[in-house]
Amino acid sequence: MNVSQINELARRYGTPLFVYEGRKIKEHLGILQKTFKPVKGEIFYAMKANPRLAILRSFRKAGVGIEAVSWGEVRTALGAGYKGRDILFNGNGKTESEVDSAVQQGVEWFNFDALDQLDILEWVAKKHKRKLYALLRAKPEIKSVTHPHLAVGERGSKFGFLRGEIPEILRYAKKLKYALLSGLHTHFGSQILNVAPFLQAARFSRDLFEEIRQEGFPMEMLDLGGGFGIPYAEKDTSLDFKALTEGYREVLAGFRGRVVFEPGRFLVGSAGVLLTRVVSVKRGPGGDFLVLDAGMTENIRPALYGARHRIVSIDDARLMIDYTVVGPVCENSDCFGNFKLPEMRRGDLVLILDSGAYGSSMGSIYNSRPRPAEVLVLDGKLSLIRKRDSLPSLWMGET
Ligand SMILES: Cc1ncc(COP(=O)(O)O)c(C=O)c1O
Repeated sequence: MNVSQINELARRYGTPLFVYEGRKIKEHLGILQKTFKPVKGEIFYAMKANPRLAILRSFRKAGVGIEAVSWGEVRTALGAGYKGRDILFNGNGKTESEVDSAVQQGVEWFNFDALDQLDILEWVAKKHKRKLYALLRAKPEIKSVTHPHLAVGERGSKFGFLRGEIPEILRYAKKLKYALLSGLHTHFGSQILNVAPFLQAARFSRDLFEEIRQEGFPMEMLDLGGGFGIPYAEKDTSLDFKALTEGYREVLAGFRGRVVFEPGRFLVGSAGVLLTRVVSVKRGPGGDFLVLDAGMTENIRPALYGARHRIVSIDDARLMIDYTVVGPVCENSDCFGNFKLPEMRRGDLVLILDSGAYGSSMGSIYNSRPRPAEVLVLDGKLSLIRKRDSLPSLWMGET
């Protein structure tokens, strides 16, 4: 995008505004397809990263499945034209009614993190007189390789079972008639930029999968989760996909079964920017603050996990100044960090890069802030894919 296109977008749709580039989504999908090709890996997009219908539709057209973690996500994917059989329903707290609704729509694969969750699958399947396929989620116990809030494969995480717990689960699962233990699921963290932990988790999962198969279960799906990181900060390096491809090829050589991956962030993260306007410049002995019209309500990642996004001005021809860049939300943690930027004036536009994943999807209406509009540029065509919230829509449901 050039400067005049950015100015035009801001004028037409207002700020803050999420802008996605379909070309980059396709490019990143291509990288993963190439990486998983030698092991015939199937991709189920983790739609929690960005659930916009237009984005889901483009994945559907590209033959990508969906990983959903709530009935709301399943329903959204159906709304984007997905069939139940193309949706994998994960989550550590699925209710009976969520599972029931999903089964009625043809969803067949569900993971489970607890025995009572497996019970729910059995009851619902029995009620509908159908078989369901259950994926046991295991913890590969990989030491923290990412922010603690994102490291979900460790001993104390609420997700999955420890290796030592699995014999008892297998004894239990053997007695079930409708929810068939047919796969293994591991997802050990997000925003991971090293190859080694992915391969360590794949080895762990492959071995455990074979052990469960030897116990007589009809094991079919090995789901290795997501977690593929993108370079956000200036210092980040990209994941080495060549090494990852070779590693998976070696670890999964001779594997019999479906291999599944659930990437979210990598597919959409770098394809989005958050276009925002400077609303105040406050300089003084307490610091030089640049206040944007976007904050933690549009991007909670810095406040939630200390994430750093690159922030750039659309005009570089000015004196560079150190700023603490903040949002307008009434929280001290509404802060994007310290940046050197050209001298800014009220009304200037800046871009928060790599905002395509976990930006809009984790957004909130805190401080009664309407959620921003979102646009997608796909095949040379610009479309408004989500309207800015109107204030009355925030009051809906109130009496
Ligand atoms: C079970 C599961 N699968 C896939 C993902 C997607 O992770 P990422 O966006 O890092 O690829 C997540 C993210 O939280 C997850 O919990």
